[in-house]
Order: sequence, then C-alpha cells, then structure tokens
Amino acid sequence: MDGNGRWARQRGLPRIEGHRRGVETVRHIVEASGQCGVRYLTLYAFSAENWKRPAAEVSALMLLLQGFLRSEVDELVAKKIRLHTIGRTAELPAAVQKELARALQATAHFTDWHLTLALNYGSRTEVADAAAAYAREVLAGREDPAQCSYEKLARHLNTAGLPDPDLVIRTSGESRISNFLLLQAAYAELVFTPVLWPDFSPDDFRSALAEYSGRERRFGATGEQLQPTASR
Ligand code: FPP
Repeated sequence: MDGNGRWARQRGLPRIEGHRRGVETVRHIVEASGQCGVRYLTLYAFSAENWKRPAAEVSALMLLLQGFLRSEVDELVAKKIRLHTIGRTAELPAAVQKELARALQATAHFTDWHLTLALNYGSRTEVADAAAAYAREVLAGREDPAQCSYEKLARHLNTAGLPDPDLVIRTSGESRISNFLLLQAAYAELVFTPVLWPDFSPDDFRSALAEYSGRERRFGATGEQLQPTASR
C-alpha cells in the first residue's frame, strides 16, 4: 500500500492525511475483493522497517490502525471475514494489541473470507523466527534435520495455514518486493502499478486481477506441459 506520503505531498498536505486517505482505500479494496471472489487478501500495513519513520508518523499510523480495527470489526463480522495477522504483533502498542485481540476473537470462527494484516512484518525476521522454532523442534527430538523440507519449515512461518499469494500488487510505481512474503510469493505473479495507494480504486484492483488472469503460470513446467493441446 505504497504512495500515501506522495499523495499527500502532491496536495500540500501532511503525510498522515495520505495515510488517512489510505485507510479509505483499504475499506474499498476489502469490499471489492469480496465482490471479485478473492477469498484471501493480505495488506502490508506496517513493515518491521517502518519503525524508522519519524515518531509522530509511527504514532499516527498506530492510531489509524487502532481506529480501523475498532470501527471495522462489526463490518468484518457482518461480512463473515476472518481477520489474521502476520508479523511480530507483540511489539505493537498495547492499545493496538487490545483492538487486534478483540477483532481476531470476534472473527475467529469464520472460514470462507480472510483478511490478513501484515503488522510489524518483515519476511527476513519471519524466516529467522521460523528457523529458530524449527531448531527448537530438532533439539526437542521432534524433528530430524535430514528430513527437513520447505513444507516443514513453512509450518513455523507466520502464514502457516494460509495459502501462498497468487498475486502481489504494489502501488505507487515502485518495482520492489520490500521484504514482503519472500518465500510465500516465490511463484506469485507481480503487478506494479503507478497509481498511488490513496487513489487505488476498485477498478484498478479489477485491472490487476485481469492482468493476473492473462498470465501463464508454469511453476517451473513448460507451457506445452500445461496446455498439451495448444502445441499440437
Ligand atoms: C506506505 O506509503 C504506506 C504505509 C507505510 C502505511 C500504510 C498504512 C495504511 C494505509 C493505514 C493503516 C492500515 C490499515 C490496514 C488500517 P508511504 O508513506 O511510504 O508513501 P510514500 O512512499 O509516498 O512516502
């Protein structure tokens, strides 16, 4: 969800206004993803690296997050959307953790629609934590390193139980992954759009889905193997 700061600067507004407007976009895209049949949506709301930002911006983002969780929980319940988080949420301010716990609990029984918020998330930290958890299993005698596989390691990732992303969209014209789901997105299709997140509309979202639908996903196989009739 990149480009909030630039959106605000272009209008002579403080950066936080861009984030505030970005929250509106979050609401619209959650709605649009339901309409489009996207059952799993993950939003990179706060990276492990975002703590480097000015303290006032970090506090404002935490307040926005807290407000979003408080105001949206009823909507999530009404839409039967289960909330998940990835990232080190125990390091978030207590007030945010409280709203999170409430929203997670209120939606825990839903099964069909899933919204995951990446909060204090960074892929490298996640992988290091997973490796440490796996090593503890080895030390306890429950895992054998000779039998280690990605699937076994992935059980210790924050995303355990969630499917890998099919499509990763990055807004604002940047063409980087920025420490987002590095392992899980190994075969994801990437769509980079110049639109700044506050301007990212449900139509832009649908365009990204259309672009995704036109891609051939081969997962290491050949095009002919996937569509044998096309080569005849
Ligand atoms: C990146 O734009 C955006 C963020 C670091 C924060 C995103 C957070 C929100 C949209 C609000 C809170 C989220 C939820 C789910 C309620 P940037 O500030 O880096 O933009 P710039 O690159 O133009 O400066």
